[in-house]
Amino acid sequence: MNNIIFNELESTNTYLKNHYREYNDGDAVVALKQTSGRGRFDRVWESNEDLTFSMLFINNKALHHMIAPLAVCYALEEFGYSPMIKWPNDVYLNDKKVSGVLIENICYKSNVYSIIGIGVNTSYKSNYSYVDLSRMPLLEVVEDKYQILLNYDEKRLYESYRLYSNTLNKEITYNGEKYVIIDYAYSGEIIIENKNRVLKVAANEIDIKSCLIY
Ligand code: BTN
Repeated sequence: MNNIIFNELESTNTYLKNHYREYNDGDAVVALKQTSGRGRFDRVWESNEDLTFSMLFINNKALHHMIAPLAVCYALEEFGYSPMIKWPNDVYLNDKKVSGVLIENICYKSNVYSIIGIGVNTSYKSNYSYVDLSRMPLLEVVEDKYQILLNYDEKRLYESYRLYSNTLNKEITYNGEKYVIIDYAYSGEIIIENKNRVLKVAANEIDIKSCLIY
């Protein structure tokens, strides 16, 4: 991948959303300092000396929602860590989040521009985990793993995602009822079940962290 490195950006996702037409498929925008990082559900993603970057893919229908957290997991494993994925695409280390993914798609003139933003904590952040690694070597390994995962067929990707998942078979409360997470759909939803029904729930409909029953 071709890395374009900025000393400071508000948010690598916001930047690419505003400038995607100036970049090519596979380009990655990296910010050494991100001042207004964004997370899912309009949350703030704080970062200090952390790895923050966004990749641009054009008309690429790969399952990025699975590839992105897996690429981070594979990379962290290579550095000796034992990460897990919390659905949909958070990466956890020792029960605390170490990495988050923000995927945004833009349609323009019948093309789909997918912006895959990844943040990995490489410095202390309270209530989170972090990895004691230099950002650029980590970035290179994450990108290498991403390329490898882009070549996986969907079944292999899905099996790998399931293997790293720490939410399978966990209980959740959804709309006031208890369910068990029984599976994931290739398209990214979770499949939950209780004695009354089986439901498919999309990632933007549920904040899993506040629904999990421990
Ligand atoms: C989340 O956990 O809710 C997603 C966090 C995603 C953070 C990354 S950091 C790089 C990219 N730029 C952003 O503003 N957000 C993503």
